[in-house]
Amino acid sequence: MTNVTDQDRVLIFDTTLRDGEQSPGATMTHDEKLEIAELLDEMGVDIIEAGFPIASEGDFKAVSEIAQRSKNSRICGLARANFADIDRCWEAVKHAGKSRIHTFIGTSPLHRAIPNLTQDEMADKIHETVSHARNLCENVQWSPMDATRTEWDYLCRVIEIAIKAGATTINIPDTVGYTAPVESADLIKRLIETVPGADEVIFATHCHNDLGMATANSLAAVAGGARQIECTINGLGERAGNTALEEVVMALRTRNDIMPWKTGIDTTKIMHISRRVATVSGFNVQFNKAIVGKNAFAHESGIHQDGMLKNRENFEIMRPEDIGLSGTSLPLGKHSGRAALRDKLETLGYEIGDNQLKDIFVRFKDLADRKKEVFDDDLIALMTLDDDEA
Ligand code: KIV
Ligand code: ZN
Repeated sequence: MTNVTDQDRVLIFDTTLRDGEQSPGATMTHDEKLEIAELLDEMGVDIIEAGFPIASEGDFKAVSEIAQRSKNSRICGLARANFADIDRCWEAVKHAGKSRIHTFIGTSPLHRAIPNLTQDEMADKIHETVSHARNLCENVQWSPMDATRTEWDYLCRVIEIAIKAGATTINIPDTVGYTAPVESADLIKRLIETVPGADEVIFATHCHNDLGMATANSLAAVAGGARQIECTINGLGERAGNTALEEVVMALRTRNDIMPWKTGIDTTKIMHISRRVATVSGFNVQFNKAIVGKNAFAHESGIHQDGMLKNRENFEIMRPEDIGLSGTSLPLGKHSGRAALRDKLETLGYEIGDNQLKDIFVRFKDLADRKKEVFDDDLIALMTLDDDEA
């Protein structure tokens, strides 16, 4: 399969600072990038793609400084298939305790037409650029961009060339989010079985979310033999984004019964980094986003709140504490029932009998019909009014 020492271990490669920052409008300042890199390092991300050093002076400086400050993570920079990009990338990442050059070229017919190269010309370019990168750095990742729309024979041929030239990780990007999960698993499996030397390298999966399948495709790729998932915090990334780190990590953790692979991520750090990335990128997280959305651990309806108060496993498959939240939230609204209202009033210090609850519940429903959410202060006001009238 691959040369990851522990076959159960999936490496997490975070590209929030490179592919994520490529989202129009998501640009981060130098200090913000250093902060996010530090949080990624602390949470146990194996490889941080810190930027695209030749893209700008600012990117170069950010990648260099992240490389110098890194503690545990391997620091990677992106480079196109030319010596100038690769040299600049190496200059930026070489200060890290562990560094990586990631070089890529578009291999599908559509992407080959951009530089107007024949299959043979592109194959030569891949050989010389990967060899050059490997002469500089012992850890080289190579990506055939738009791999999932590249002809099968040509894809096998160029991967073999990259491996022979010294690539240590082969990343298979689904650049336009076109693949479906069954194909994703099958593609990686067949590549590992077919390409000579495939068992000497790690296969990675890099999925985009254009059809909402990035997480499913990444997990399917792991089932097919990939041992590195490329992802971003909150799924930040171009167009519909990249695979969300928090989704693949929590899926592997929660459904370890059928996906027996583990990551090195400290999941209790997820919520904090999610909020910081949302703030610094200016991309708010949608309320119903899996894992990190405001409503991911919130239950408003009466039936659900009652069920939660009896046993949280009734409606929660993960514990909010596992991602760094203090607990479940049971917001009160027009769908809430008596059990949740009583529970909330008790937390606020009120002891009420059944008759008083009945009365307060009517007033609460009346208020909830007019407001989206009933807050603690609203309940306190209702109780004060009730005392005054008594
Ligand atoms: O989506 C993509 O193909 C990429 C490559 C640069 C790996 O981001
Ligand atoms: Zn990408």
